[in-house]
Amino acid sequence: MGKSVIAGNWKMHMTCAEAQAFASAFLPLVASLPSDREVLLAPPFTAIATLAQALAGSGIQIGGQNVHWDRSGAYTGMISAAMLQEHGVTHAIVGHSEPRKYYSETDEQINLRARTAQKAGLIPILCVGESDSQREGGEAERVIRRQVEQGIDGLDPALLVVAYEPIWAIGTGKTCGAAEANRICGLIRSWVGYADVVVQYGGSVKADNIDLLMAQSDINGVLVGGASLDPVGFARIANYQVPESA
Ligand code: 13P
Repeated sequence: MGKSVIAGNWKMHMTCAEAQAFASAFLPLVASLPSDREVLLAPPFTAIATLAQALAGSGIQIGGQNVHWDRSGAYTGMISAAMLQEHGVTHAIVGHSEPRKYYSETDEQINLRARTAQKAGLIPILCVGESDSQREGGEAERVIRRQVEQGIDGLDPALLVVAYEPIWAIGTGKTCGAAEANRICGLIRSWVGYADVVVQYGGSVKADNIDLLMAQSDINGVLVGGASLDPVGFARIANYQVPESA
């Protein structure tokens, strides 16, 4: 198994000045990370250039919060892979439940975004996950499987991260239990059909549950929202510790 991937998704938070202040506080706390992990931050597009400068030489990577499927064109409000890569961006989140919900993104569009990202040399972070009512209705596995299978069509699973983010756990403080998160991440791995695919868990990940989550056999990283806005808390997450026996 390769490195784990610890990612912070800042969503619509952080001006350039705030991103700069975050980096100043964060970098000394992640100066000696173990070599078994990669850490990345996905700021809003406007803060990418500032953050890239602030993180230069630190080994902390940068992700885009989305990427368009076309190389350029009349797509108001969108961003291309080349625009992200010009700033050294290495990853792009696709299929997050928020654009799925607020902008009606479909599995087909998400797959196109992921394909374009991969073709350009970005690692797509494909988010999947069920809603509360889908879980209550016993639909979780069917929904996630469809999102995975349609999302990864035509992709190289060696250059991909899949993030399991149950919607009911996002921003709610209700973390999915570690054993259940691990079970779903294991299913995702089998649906991808590539044993070494990086599978993250996301949804109310915090400094006080990271060690338990990262001790699970099928969880290779986390996608962190709210707790990635605090440099001290996110540094603790990046410095997660798994007991030897785990
Ligand atoms: P929270 O960590 O705030 O629950 O958000 C998770 C998420 O959506 C990360 O992409």
